[in-house]
Amino acid sequence: MPEIINGNEIARVIREEIRKETVVMREITGVTPGLAVVLVGDDPASRIYVRRKGRACAEAGFLSREIRLPAAAAEGELLDIIVQLNGDPAVHGILVQLPLPRQIRTQMIIEAIAPAKDVDGFHPVNVGRLMAGNPGPVSCTPRGVMELLDRTGVDIAGREAVIVGRSNIVGKPLALLLLARHATVTICHTRTQRLPDVTRRADILVAAAGSPEMIRGDMIKEGAVVIDVGINRRDDGRLVGDVAFAEAERRAAYITPVPGGVGPMTIAMLLRNTLEAARRITAPV
Ligand code: GUN
Repeated sequence: MPEIINGNEIARVIREEIRKETVVMREITGVTPGLAVVLVGDDPASRIYVRRKGRACAEAGFLSREIRLPAAAAEGELLDIIVQLNGDPAVHGILVQLPLPRQIRTQMIIEAIAPAKDVDGFHPVNVGRLMAGNPGPVSCTPRGVMELLDRTGVDIAGREAVIVGRSNIVGKPLALLLLARHATVTICHTRTQRLPDVTRRADILVAAAGSPEMIRGDMIKEGAVVIDVGINRRDDGRLVGDVAFAEAERRAAYITPVPGGVGPMTIAMLLRNTLEAARRITAPV
C-alpha cells in the first residue's frame, strides 16, 4: 500500500510556520501582512472559499478584508475597488475570487491588480517572471503541489513528470515549476493521443483535468507519485478527485487523497504569497 500524503497535516505545519514568521516580522518591522479578498456575486462555493481564506488570515495573524459586490456589478465598480486597494499601504495582497460574472472581463481585472500585490500569481508580469525563472508570486495550487512533493521527500530532478490538464491556474505554471527543478515534463490535454501510454511513463503524475476519476489504475506506473488536484462532486454528493483512488492505491508509491491532499495546501500558499508580498513591498530600499 502506498504512503498517503497528508495535505491537511503538511498545510497545518506550514500555516504554523507562517504564523511564527508573522510575529517576528511585526516585532522587527511593525508590519502586519494584509490581504484583501474581493467576491463578486454569491456563488455558494466561492463564498465558502472566501470565508476560509479570511479565517486562515486571522489564524496566521494577518489583517484581512472582504469586499463584496453584487452579481450585477459593473466592471468599472470592480476596477475602482482594485485601484483603491493597489494604493492602500495596509494591503499587501489582493485576490479577486474567480470565476467572475459574465459582464466582467476576467483578464482585464487580473491585469489591473498591481503585480506586487498579485498573490494569485495570475498577472502577466508574474507569469513572465515564472517563465524566466525569476522570483515573484506563483499561483497557489501549483506552489502547493511543489511543497507537498518537497515535504514528502520526492526527488524531482531527472524524473519524468506528466501533468494531465493545461489550465493557466494549475497545469501550465506547475509545468514551469517542475521544469525549473529539472524534471522532464509532459503536459497532456483533451486532444492528447493514447493518454494511458503517456501517463504510464510518469514517475510523478499530476491529475489536474477537472474530470472525475479519469485516471484509472492501469494508467499509472508501478511506484509512481500520484498527485490529485481534482475536486469533483458526484451525483450522490461524494467528493472525488481526478484519480480513481482505490485503483491507483494498488500501483502508486505515494498518493494524495481527495479531500485532504492538495486542497488545504492552496490556502497555505496564499498565506505564504501574502507574507512574501508584504516583505517585498515594505523592504527598505
Ligand atoms: N477560484 C478557484 N481557484 C481560484 C484561485 O486560485 N484564485 C482565485 N482568485 N479564484 C479561484
